[in-house]
Amino acid sequence: MNLYIKTFGCQMNERDSEIIEQLLLPAGYIPVADPEQADLVILNTCSIRAKAEQKVYSLLGQLRSLKKTHPSMIIGVAGCVAQQEGPRIQVKMPHVDLVIGTQQIYRIPDLVADIRSGLRISTPGASARTGKNVPRTEVSLSDTFAIPPFQNLLYGQAPPSPAVPEFKKFVTIMQGCNNYCSYCVVPYTRGREISRPVQDILEEVRLLVRHGVREITLLGQNVNSYGRTNQVADQPVNFAALLRRVADIDGIRRLRFTTSNPKDLSGELMQCFADLDILCSHFHLPVQSGSNAILARMNRKYTVEQYMEQIHTLRSCRPDIALSTDIIVGFPGETDEDFAATMQLLEEVRFHSSFSFKYSDRPGTRSADFANKVDEEVKTERLKQFQARQDEISLERNRACLNQTMEVMVEGPGRNGLFSGRTPTNHIVHFKAPRDRAPVPGSELLIRITRAGHHSLTGTVVENRG
Ligand code: 5AD
Ligand code: SF4
Repeated sequence: MNLYIKTFGCQMNERDSEIIEQLLLPAGYIPVADPEQADLVILNTCSIRAKAEQKVYSLLGQLRSLKKTHPSMIIGVAGCVAQQEGPRIQVKMPHVDLVIGTQQIYRIPDLVADIRSGLRISTPGASARTGKNVPRTEVSLSDTFAIPPFQNLLYGQAPPSPAVPEFKKFVTIMQGCNNYCSYCVVPYTRGREISRPVQDILEEVRLLVRHGVREITLLGQNVNSYGRTNQVADQPVNFAALLRRVADIDGIRRLRFTTSNPKDLSGELMQCFADLDILCSHFHLPVQSGSNAILARMNRKYTVEQYMEQIHTLRSCRPDIALSTDIIVGFPGETDEDFAATMQLLEEVRFHSSFSFKYSDRPGTRSADFANKVDEEVKTERLKQFQARQDEISLERNRACLNQTMEVMVEGPGRNGLFSGRTPTNHIVHFKAPRDRAPVPGSELLIRITRAGHHSLTGTVVENRG
């Protein structure tokens, strides 16, 4: 049977999709790249902005006609839209068979098997062999860590052997979020913040490294507050300490983490950039706005001055650190002066790159009820202005890399017959493969940069470090 998974949104969702696939492989499912060939379609969804959610509904609309020609196809919706909308999805889209919340993905194989065997249960206890499409919704959230012990989660009985060995992996260290930024839907879709036990994390990393993984990214909604809600009471380990323990594991070449909230960024964590060589010189530190008035209404709990202080400390710990951020323009009540302050912050920090978004109301969030919503045209104009200036700065920063020799970890073949890879600073580098041998994904090269674009660099291989 064929399985098609489409992932929307963040790296948490990417990791969840991997887990869903790993759980379904032992049940005989084979991943395919085209929904038309699939017996089981899972959309792993994102609801961070209205646009992300609309994409899900539009794809579900397309799947309706596909299901008409392929009636035995099972369609499941997982992720944040599933969590947020629950049974409403099947009211709008009756061809959806299964709605699975963010903490229920481990049950997917059983739920799908039930549906396949014709057993449809709409409410607990009320089961019937109807043969009709009675939809099923599983969206409860709990206070305990949803990831089962790492062995089951990773490989089931036997490790899968992917055609291309994987060299970089995400490792989930916490789930959920307790911050309640006023615009954000995540605490409602991912539940309360819960840290994963240290030993599970370390064992998972060791196992991955034994299977040839060279780059690890520790993953959570707010990794900086790791340990505050630790399930294992006798092991109080904060994020900086966890990072040091992971960095001690032999065989890891690169270590990254995402994502961070400035309000929880400790001096101890910044010091890790001075001490740990394998910690990559890149920090994604979402600031959201350059105006203190807006930050306060966003419930971010830090000021622009505190943020700038962190930027200075990070740069003194690791002078070549590349900084990226997230920005929301047009938050309710954002004045021209507030937006000018965001532009000013961009000039001061000169982020290497950023993700910027127009504010959008999300159901159940506090800011959805705020007055003084900003006009759509004003939001569009501010976004354009921010992105144009960011593009210029990114290009200027990339041009500063010209003629430098940079360490690149190979990702694989890319566009125009070139290969591509990433530097520790997370720059994408395109390069021509040496004539005698194609570079192996995960291997490291020294590359001299010969061209700089807005979003990537191009260079020639100087040395293959293996
Ligand atoms: N509107 C616009 N952007 C949002 N983000 C989160 N919620 C919203 C919203 N309601 C952005 C933030 C966050 C990123 C993942 O998405 O910048 O850091
Ligand atoms: Fe989207 Fe946020 Fe959910 Fe990730 S956690 S999928 S970004 S809503």
